[in-house]
Amino acid sequence: MSGISERLSKTVRGLPPSGIRRFFDLANQMQDVISLGVGEPDFVTPWHVREASVYALERGYTSYTANSGMLELRREISRYLQKFDLDYDPETEILVTVGGSEAIDLALRTLLEPGDEVLIPEPTYVSYKPCTVLAGGVPIDVPTVGKDDFRLTVNNLVPRIGHRTKALIMSFPNNPTGAVMGEDDVRGIAKLANERDFFVVSDEIYAELSYAGRHHSIAAQPGMKERTVLISGFSKAYAMTGWRVGYVAGPRDVMQELLKIHQYTILCAPIMGQMAALEALQNGAAERDRMVESYNQRRRLIVGGLRRIGLECHEPNGAFYAFPSIQATGLNSEEFAEGLLKEGRVAVVPGRVFGGSGEGYIRASYATSVEQIERALERIDRFVNARMLQRV
Ligand SMILES: Cc1ncc(COP(=O)(O)O)c(C=O)c1O
Repeated sequence: MSGISERLSKTVRGLPPSGIRRFFDLANQMQDVISLGVGEPDFVTPWHVREASVYALERGYTSYTANSGMLELRREISRYLQKFDLDYDPETEILVTVGGSEAIDLALRTLLEPGDEVLIPEPTYVSYKPCTVLAGGVPIDVPTVGKDDFRLTVNNLVPRIGHRTKALIMSFPNNPTGAVMGEDDVRGIAKLANERDFFVVSDEIYAELSYAGRHHSIAAQPGMKERTVLISGFSKAYAMTGWRVGYVAGPRDVMQELLKIHQYTILCAPIMGQMAALEALQNGAAERDRMVESYNQRRRLIVGGLRRIGLECHEPNGAFYAFPSIQATGLNSEEFAEGLLKEGRVAVVPGRVFGGSGEGYIRASYATSVEQIERALERIDRFVNARMLQRV
């Protein structure tokens, strides 16, 4: 068939391919590369979780589940969310999804009418803008900056709100910056959402990976449950990326519509993954907390190391990413990441990939071994020093 490309969806053709991909492809072709690039836990899913899924398979659990997910799992999710002062009815206000990824797509497709604007704090997780565009929405960048530790502030938001603003995507603890929001920060944003009448899609997938006190969900603020679509999942906290289980919680009216998309496009999340997720919630807290403590130790190691090298680095109090500034080297983030990969054999992600406000920074994931982090820091030190010497 000739001219195939022109006959495909303009919207899809207009999407840029993921910027992270290019670096992984480059890194994969090279020998002896230390990767601080990937955004996933370096732990294997705890054994008791894997065993529960194996046992479920042995007993013949291989069918569809209810569209919304196993009720027992939804009950556990509802119980779990109480720890963040959240109250969701497992029968009507929780839906189990194929990872947080599906939940993001469902939330945006349910909330948006063509042309609706979505406020997206930058630097941003890579899927929010494409999913907004695919849902017919218009992404509006809201820059966050290093001097605020990349927290979202009311002052950043106000100038971006217009008469087409339908929703804000909040994502704290944040990928890529590691930023978290304190209770006062969240209260301020909630007040604004109530006053200016927009929805919040709150992606709290890193909630457990909060190192400076407890996580504060915006959905727990007064008046916010009605206007928040909460997204979370098992990938990060329980080292379960491959199982593809997440969930979305929200007010009944929203969930009723959201469920329809899930029913027609997905049917249900895989039962093996749901069985594993159930075990993780019922018996996985101790192991989860051990993993979080281990990330925290590595966090201190990498942040201390980067600062000693001379790269300014705000305190990333959540997730498993450091987001140092590389401006002192005189390179932009693509040049830095490419140079470091080719000359230093360390893979990081250029901040530019996460939007314009990420320029001047790189994302370094510390979900890798202490030994690898130490070796990577030595290599970064050599690379940065060589650059600094060239500059004087
Ligand atoms: C902020 C954020 N949200 C959602 C996801 C998707 O997670 P899942 O594996 O649950 O689809 C990721 C994965 O990197 C993420 O960083």
